[in-house]
Amino acid sequence: MSKIKLLDPNTISKIAAGEVIERPSSIVKELIENSIDANANQITIEIQDSGISLIRVTDNGEGMSKDDLELAFERHSTSKLRTIEDLNSCFTMGFRGEALSSIASVSKTEVLSRTKEDLAGIKAILIDGEVVEFEPVGAPIGTTMIIKDLFYNLPVRKKFLKSKNVEENYIMNAITKLAIGNPDISFKYIKDNKVVFTTMGSGNVINTVFQLLGKNNAKGFKQISIETDSFKLQGFISDNTLYRSNRNHQYLYVNKRYVVDYRISKIVENQYSSLIPINRYPLFILFISIDPSQIDVNIHPTKQEIKFISDTLVYENLGKAIKKELSESFNIPKVDFSTHKKEKKDNIPLIWDIEASKDRDTLVAESEVSKETIVFKDFSNLDFSNASVKEDLGEETNYPDVEKTVKKFPSLRPVGIVFKTYILAEDSLNQS
Ligand SMILES: Nc1ncnc2c1ncn2[C@@H]1O[C@H](COP(=O)(O)OP(=O)(O)O)[C@@H](O)[C@H]1O
Ligand SMILES: [Mg+2]
Repeated sequence: MSKIKLLDPNTISKIAAGEVIERPSSIVKELIENSIDANANQITIEIQDSGISLIRVTDNGEGMSKDDLELAFERHSTSKLRTIEDLNSCFTMGFRGEALSSIASVSKTEVLSRTKEDLAGIKAILIDGEVVEFEPVGAPIGTTMIIKDLFYNLPVRKKFLKSKNVEENYIMNAITKLAIGNPDISFKYIKDNKVVFTTMGSGNVINTVFQLLGKNNAKGFKQISIETDSFKLQGFISDNTLYRSNRNHQYLYVNKRYVVDYRISKIVENQYSSLIPINRYPLFILFISIDPSQIDVNIHPTKQEIKFISDTLVYENLGKAIKKELSESFNIPKVDFSTHKKEKKDNIPLIWDIEASKDRDTLVAESEVSKETIVFKDFSNLDFSNASVKEDLGEETNYPDVEKTVKKFPSLRPVGIVFKTYILAEDSLNQS
């Protein structure tokens, strides 16, 4: 008897889902990308219980007809690609036709959809990848995908999920990347019935950054743009006062697709060496537009890795443009001297306190400092036995808690101050 058997479609989908649907955030990403591909300009994302009990993505895009909806959950069904050559002109987020079948195989899925040509919408319910309900319903134009009980049939996968907070962070990051990359789409994110953020969809990247990352991040960006025969780059890089201890806010989009390219990160970071502290990373939001035939996006199922066919061209131009922008807009941070206050301890006289308490007549007037090369004040008849030297450590200096009053001068005897800065002292032990 032969031992090789063809797997049934449901098992194939579950295995394939392992590649695309690792955690709730993967579903959020795939569903938003489908809404973007359907030309929606309003996308609402709702989650309950870090996406385990509910993920709902509603869009006002093109929707699906009854026939399309029947096919949408089949493996390898897509409206975005017909032949492999189409990849050379593909500008959509999806093209593998895998997401919906994978999602439906690991959850209880419900979809409502309506196109503008149809008078009524369609509702479909799938359990374990099988359609259990399919009927016409009243629905607005667009699509609503409802994912419930994620991984109910894959308990091992569920066990490997991280804490609620960590999974929510993954979701937030996934939405943030897509929202910054699509500033012309209005995103609304609702978590456990509370609105987390809304973006305006005004098309302005910095407005979107403001809404997602806050004012301080939004105001530290400089605009850069590059135009060559083979690609265009537009975007924003942080100035030398805005940096992070990680690479979390480095956003790179190629043909609007969020991608990770460590060489690009390195090239950007290299331009900041000596401008920002070590082990700190600049922020950037870069949009590269390039002929799709000049990149390979089909390296990984999540499509986050890409390869440029002629990468040196992109890398060299990027490095040069950033260097130029940074050298033109280098920002010298202002130091607020008011935070470096000298501290006073009541009972120990400081050298400058003693100086201040001296008869004003014996002090040298400010104007004379510039006239004379050396201003010498004679302290030889003052008693410094209790004086101490104090370090000027302002309260806001981040040093470890050092003993601020350093030490007394056991053998040195101050005799005066030169240039109002240097203390002149003689070694009393060596006095003959
Ligand atoms: N929100 C949506 N609006 C309109 N059509 C959609 C939506 N989501 C999915 N579809 C349709 O279902 C098909 C299958 O989706 P998916 O499995 O994600 O594959 P892909 O996005 O790679 O084509 C898409 O090609 C598209 O035609
Ligand atoms: Mg898709």
